[in-house]
Amino acid sequence: MLGAFWQKTSHTIGLVPTMGYLHAGHMSLVERSKSENACTVMSIFVNPTQFGPSEDLDSYPRDLQRDLDMARDAGVDYVFAPQAQDIYPPGHCTWVEVQSPMAAVLCGASRPSHFRGVTTVVTKLFHLIQPQRAYFGEKDYQQLALIRQMTRDLNMPVEIVACPTLREEDGLAMSSRNTYLSPEERSAATMLFQALTLAQEILNQGQRDASRIRQALREHFAASPLCTIDYVEIVDPVTLAHLETITEEARVILAVHIGRTRLIDNASITLK
Ligand code: PAJ
Repeated sequence: MLGAFWQKTSHTIGLVPTMGYLHAGHMSLVERSKSENACTVMSIFVNPTQFGPSEDLDSYPRDLQRDLDMARDAGVDYVFAPQAQDIYPPGHCTWVEVQSPMAAVLCGASRPSHFRGVTTVVTKLFHLIQPQRAYFGEKDYQQLALIRQMTRDLNMPVEIVACPTLREEDGLAMSSRNTYLSPEERSAATMLFQALTLAQEILNQGQRDASRIRQALREHFAASPLCTIDYVEIVDPVTLAHLETITEEARVILAVHIGRTRLIDNASITLK
């Protein structure tokens, strides 16, 4: 109680970085920040440098007025919603890039330069807002791991707080990109959460060979013509290294195209 009182009165700032088109997943980060800080700042910025040339920067959903209303209703103290030219003025040429093997796999392999864009903009947000804490969702598990690594490596005085993935009733992880899905695709999208559950079930049956579990998940997605796998991986939860055998805990990480929409999800699986 005293600790909480001290923190509240010590004027800490909690930052919730977002690209807007807010949903309950974003708002759960706000709730956590409000419970731990005197002031909560949300950034809303569709960061162009984390999109590849053929990706969805132009079509990414945007509705600033709706986002501002949601932020106000949730008790966000300040919203920072810059223009691209404010963050990347002409001549900008400095990048922050985590050069760990962890950055080269999974989304780092399928979206080259994506994480460089993320770590650069997050560094800028940390400098501009100077929060004591910053809140990130486990939904973007690799992003969270790389931001932790960057913060450690560059001695950034910011505590990174990880928040659990919020899901729709049928298990689909909330995402601004879910708005792209047609009704038929929306129902196929539940296959991601089903795959995560299936992985734990197979592990429960005593299967510790990660490649067997990966294979079962691939077959699961092959059953739907709407699903195209980008990757289906089982990795070490800390290093994100590919696992052959599950000894304790592992992370299942998926990226799957449902029609033209690329969705990601992940979960911990553990030996019982
Ligand atoms: P965006 O996709 O808008 O997500 C903003 C934050 O909300 C991220 O930390 C993300 O992990 C979290 N989040 C998204 N969906 C969630 C869910 N269903 N449950 C819990 N948290 C969820 O991630 C980004 O933006 C950008 O890469 C950013 C970090 C802002 C840098 O541009």
